[in-house]
Amino acid sequence: MHCLVLALFSMLLPDSVLASLPAPVNVSVISVNFHHVLRWDPGPGTPPGTQYMISKRLDDKRRLNSTTTSLKLKLKNYYKYHLNVQAYYNQTWSPVSNKYTFSPFKDTTIGPPKVSLAGCGNCIQINMSLPEADRSSGINDIQKFFTAYFRIFCRRGKETVPQSFVFYKML
Ligand SMILES: *[C@@H]1O[C@H](CO)[C@@H](O)[C@H](O)[C@H]1NC(C)=O
Ligand SMILES: *[C@@H]1O[C@H](CO)[C@@H](O)[C@H](O)[C@H]1NC(C)=O
Ligand SMILES: *[C@@H]1O[C@H](CO)[C@@H](O)[C@H](O)[C@H]1NC(C)=O
Ligand SMILES: *[C@@H]1O[C@H](CO)[C@@H](O)[C@H](O)[C@H]1NC(C)=O
Repeated sequence: MHCLVLALFSMLLPDSVLASLPAPVNVSVISVNFHHVLRWDPGPGTPPGTQYMISKRLDDKRRLNSTTTSLKLKLKNYYKYHLNVQAYYNQTWSPVSNKYTFSPFKDTTIGPPKVSLAGCGNCIQINMSLPEADRSSGINDIQKFFTAYFRIFCRRGKETVPQSFVFYKML
C-alpha cells in the first residue's frame, strides 16, 4: 500500500523537484580518544563540487562549510550536539539530513590501555596508561577525567577462571 501511494505521488511531482539536490545521508561521528570526525555520504545523484554546511546544534546559526564529506570537529566535552548536514550546489539547497546526536564524554571511544610488564623476582611489575586525548578536548589525562580504574585479569597454571584485581589508581 505504501509503495502504491509513493509511486502515485512521484508521478505527480514535476521534474524540477525530482531533480533537486538530495539531502546527505548516513551522517555519523567517528570518535576515538576525543578525536571527533563527522562523516556523511552524498545523497544519490549529488553532483561533484557540491558544498556542505554543517550545524552542530539546532539553535545555532553558525555553520561550518566543507567541500569534502568528512570534517574534524572541535566540541565541548559535556555538551549534547544535534549534528546535521545540508548540501548546497549552484544556488540550490538540499533538505537537511537526519540529525545525529552526539555527546563527547559519553560517546567517544577510549582506545585500549598501554601495558608493559616486567618480572621483579617473585613479583610482576605492570605499568598501565590510557592513550592521550585529542588536544582540542583540553583533557590532559583521560584517566583522571573519567576517574577510570583498571581491571586486571591474571590466570595461573590451568585455572579456568582468571583472578581479577581492580586498581583505581596508577601505581
Ligand atoms: C549509507 O550506508 C549504507 C550502510 O553502510 C550503505 O549501504 C549505503 O550505500 C550508504 N548510502 C550512500 C548514499 O552511500
Ligand atoms: C563556503 O566557504 C567558501 C570559502 O570560504 C565560500 O566561498 C562559500 O561561499 C561558502 N559556501 C556557503 C554555502 O556559504
Ligand atoms: C545552475 O542553475 C541554473 C539555473 O537553474 C542553470 O541554468 C545552470 O545550468 C546550472 N549550472 C550548473 C553548473 O549546474
Ligand atoms: C614502569 O614505569 C617505571 C617508572 O616510569 C619504570 O621505572 C619501569 O621500568 C616501568 N616498567 C615497565 C615494565 O615498563
